[in-house]
Amino acid sequence: MSEQKHTGKVIFAGAGPGDPELITLKALRYLQQADVVITDRLVSDVILDEYVHKEALILPVGKQCRKGASTPQSVINELLVEYASQNKLVVRLKGGDPSVFSNILDELQALSRHGIPYEIIPGITAALGAAAYSGIPLTARDHSKAVRLLTYYKKDLLEDSYWKELALTDDTLVFYMSSDTLDSLVSVLLKHGIGADKYLSVIEQATTPYQQVYNCNIHDYPAKWGNSRYISPSLIIIGKTAGLYEEFQWIGNGEKKGESKESYFKPVADNPITQTKRA
Ligand SMILES: C[S@@+](CC[C@H](N)C(=O)[O-])C[C@H]1O[C@@H](n2cnc3c(N)ncnc32)[C@H](O)[C@@H]1O
Repeated sequence: MSEQKHTGKVIFAGAGPGDPELITLKALRYLQQADVVITDRLVSDVILDEYVHKEALILPVGKQCRKGASTPQSVINELLVEYASQNKLVVRLKGGDPSVFSNILDELQALSRHGIPYEIIPGITAALGAAAYSGIPLTARDHSKAVRLLTYYKKDLLEDSYWKELALTDDTLVFYMSSDTLDSLVSVLLKHGIGADKYLSVIEQATTPYQQVYNCNIHDYPAKWGNSRYISPSLIIIGKTAGLYEEFQWIGNGEKKGESKESYFKPVADNPITQTKRA
C-alpha cells in the first residue's frame, strides 16, 4: 500500500453495511493514514479497532435510530471544518454508502463554504448487502427490471397516485428506516392493489453474524407478522424477487441470534462525542 500522506482534507468513506470485509481497499488505506475518524453508529467495531491507525482520534457522532441520542448536524459540520483546518486528514466514515440516506449534502456544503478539499469513496449500501447476503436478486429477467431505494419513516403526506404506482410497479422496492412503520406501509400497498405475486423480506442486521430474515407473501404479512418489532438496523425488500429468498438464501439466519435478539452495532452513548485515542 502507498505511504503517501494527505493532509487538510476530508475523505467521505463508506464502511459497508456491517461485515467489516465489505469495505473498499481505498477506504481502508485512508483509515490507516487518518489523523481523525468521525464515525456513524452503523460501522462495525472491527473496522474501528483493526483498520484505523492506532494514533488516530475516533469521534463517534452516530444517531440512535431516529429517537435516541445524536450529535446535531451543525456540530458534525463544525468538527469536519475544525480538524481539516488544522491540516489533519479527516475520514468521515458512514455506514453503507456515504451518499445514500446520509446527510452528506450538509457536510459537503459546509466544507465548500470553507474551501476545504474532499474526496468521496463509495461503499456497499445496505440494500446491496442485504440482498446479496439473503440471496435475493434485486433485478432479474421476468421479475424486476429496476430497483428503487425509498424510505417511509413518517406515515406520509404522499399522494394516493404515488402509492398506486408503487403498488403496481414490478420494480423492486427497498425501504430504509421503515421497519417501525411497516404495518402501515403494507396496508397502504395492499389498499392500492399490490399483486399476490409480490413478496416482502425484512432483513435485520444484514451482513452481520446476527442477520435475520423474515420473508413471506405480502398478502400474508398482516396475519403472520403484523405488529412485530425489528432490531435496528433493518430494511425491507418488496417485489417478485423477494419470493426467490427461500430458493437462493445461502447464509441462513444468524447463528448468534437466539432469543436475546442481540445488537451487532453498539448503542450511542448519552454524550455521543466521546473521543477515543488508542495510542
Ligand atoms: C440513515 S440510513 C443510512 C444508510 C447507509 N448510508 C447505507 O448506504 O446503507 C440507516 C438505515 O439503513 C438501513 N441499514 C443500514 N445498515 C443495515 C444493515 N446492516 N442491515 C439492515 N439495514 C441496514 C436501515 O434501514 C437503517 O435504518
